[in-house]
Amino acid sequence: MNSFSSLLQEHRLFQPPKQFSDNAEISSMDQYSSLLKEAQFDILEHWSKQAKRIHWFSSWNTILDWKHPKAQWFKEGTINASFNCLDIHLGTEYKNKKAIIWEREDGHKIELTYAELHNKVGRFASSLKSLGIRKGESVTIYMGMNPEAIIAMLACARIGIVHNVVFGGFSAEALRDRINDSSSVCVITQAITKRRGSDIPLYDAVFSALQSCPSIREVISKDLPKSDKQETPRFHDWDSLLTSHEVVCDPLHIESEHSLFYLYTSGSTGKPKGLVHTTGGYLTHVHYSFGLVFDPKPDDVYFCTADIGWITGHSYVVYGPLMHGMTILIYEGALNHPHPGKIWELIQYHKATILYTAPTAIRAFMSAGNQIPNAFDLSSLRLLGTVGEPINPEAWMWYHSIIGNERCPIVDTWWQTETGGIMIAPIPGAVPTKPGTATMPLPGILADIVDKSGNPTPSNVGGYLVIKHPWPGMARTIFGDDARYEAVYWSEFPPNDHHEGMYFTGDGARKDDDGYFWIMGRVDDVVNVSGHRLGTAEIESALVSHPSVAEAAVVAKPDEIKGNALIAFVTVMKDRPVDIQALKQELKDHVAKEIGAIAKPEDIRFTEGLPKTRSGKIMRRLLREIVSQGTISGDTTTLEDFSSLEKLRSSDEE
Ligand code: WT7
Repeated sequence: MNSFSSLLQEHRLFQPPKQFSDNAEISSMDQYSSLLKEAQFDILEHWSKQAKRIHWFSSWNTILDWKHPKAQWFKEGTINASFNCLDIHLGTEYKNKKAIIWEREDGHKIELTYAELHNKVGRFASSLKSLGIRKGESVTIYMGMNPEAIIAMLACARIGIVHNVVFGGFSAEALRDRINDSSSVCVITQAITKRRGSDIPLYDAVFSALQSCPSIREVISKDLPKSDKQETPRFHDWDSLLTSHEVVCDPLHIESEHSLFYLYTSGSTGKPKGLVHTTGGYLTHVHYSFGLVFDPKPDDVYFCTADIGWITGHSYVVYGPLMHGMTILIYEGALNHPHPGKIWELIQYHKATILYTAPTAIRAFMSAGNQIPNAFDLSSLRLLGTVGEPINPEAWMWYHSIIGNERCPIVDTWWQTETGGIMIAPIPGAVPTKPGTATMPLPGILADIVDKSGNPTPSNVGGYLVIKHPWPGMARTIFGDDARYEAVYWSEFPPNDHHEGMYFTGDGARKDDDGYFWIMGRVDDVVNVSGHRLGTAEIESALVSHPSVAEAAVVAKPDEIKGNALIAFVTVMKDRPVDIQALKQELKDHVAKEIGAIAKPEDIRFTEGLPKTRSGKIMRRLLREIVSQGTISGDTTTLEDFSSLEKLRSSDEE
């Protein structure tokens, strides 16, 4: 038995260092338990208390209006996200504190204080107003990881424009679908972003998407390329807009339930879903969870490596940290470029105190060797976080000893795009950690693990992870599709005599004897590759849109670094002669074009048929077994055609 599994067997708990967080709100298990009891005693009062910690222009009468599955939090209240991130700091000593430290791969650096950020957000919000973009309309932001992207988000929030950030790694086609689904009236982009030494032409992707985006009226680009095609939509240069507009742009008093943003994410079926997050409840949840889990201090330099194209970038690069007056460090580029230790150099140079990153990044740095981080002074770090996928105990131990020098608590945070904010995580300084578990739900979050009938599973028995009571950060719906929202999240465990209906997360989990939650991964056809969430159905539909492909099935294969790798099984059109090697490459490129490079299958296996049940459903379980074990066990009696299975096996052995 290796040392890690023996450690788990012993159930040894990592006690938080005594000196950690003396002035934290919660710094002992006792304080944690009493907050938990308080929240359990009166959950609405608990959330109301948290909401009062942020700034409202006017208060609410109703804490929660819940008509399954529709939640409204603090509905009569008015609030502004940009005001809570910026204006509240201006009358304090934080006014001239650094809000953003930005570095780009080519060495370019910029710092902005809270006052400077406020100024730019005001100018940009005035610019959006002058272009006639109105409250409630949506704007797509397609940019790299830079201050402009954050300014754009906050400027939208300031005047009630709904932002829809699309990850810069998505292709023009994926961008087009997200613009059209959200009916955006404007796109904000930049000429190029940098990644691993290459120039990524974001503006060009926008330009090509726009050929079929009728709702777009305006395009704003940082470094707008000179072009003569500027009629409809109208094109504007970011800097010229900013210099020609007033600083003052009063924040609108926004209704609590007004949409703050849409964010698209993959599901197990169909096209990506635009989750709708609203303002008051979201800000409350994000402010509360950031405070508890990251225990912010005035001198922190907070480094979250997530891109703003994902929910982590929204909640814990932008809104949470800025509401708490943090100095945030952001990097435009790959964290191991221009040299393999770039991430550690950033921490050393800027004296980062908190690092929040994904297990896949930790595993990649771990495999590159200890000599790389060991060459840097990481003594400024005091807290480490992970998010996006389960962290294997080996990676956890490496993070703990090599990066944290056994001093820094690790917060493994479980949550989702749908949850808006962190749901399950240890409170550092209070809740002892174990490698590989996100520990326990935050007070106010009623998470549990249940069987198919909705009954709680006993300790150490796997089941479905569910949330039993609405929480303020929850997504309110899927944009334009209330029925799908209900079907995906609220129909698995509908209200009955025993409970009021539960939110279905799509994750499997178990609780151990200490009540700690161990996340076992998705139970649906969603795959986590390098911390990115991908729907296999989406990739399959990209594959079958290629003229040579008849059928496709995509499954996950466990991967040491990425968590999972995608393997596609493809049958080709009978009447088309194919060069297998060339077609493999062509199909990978085709997926990159349809969705983005992150969705490219690692391997494509050609087969004459896919194993199906009598009702015609592809038996993905068998395909998963083939790719992960090379063998097939279990029940195959419902297979329609055994020969398809034999062929798959032989194609596997090639
Ligand atoms: C899915 C959500 C939350 C921001 C990033 C991902 C998996 C997330 C953990 C964790 C185990 C995790 C789940 C979840 N996941 N965090 N700490 N331990 N699994 O957001 O793209 O919406 O993906 O990521 O499977 O359902 P997302």
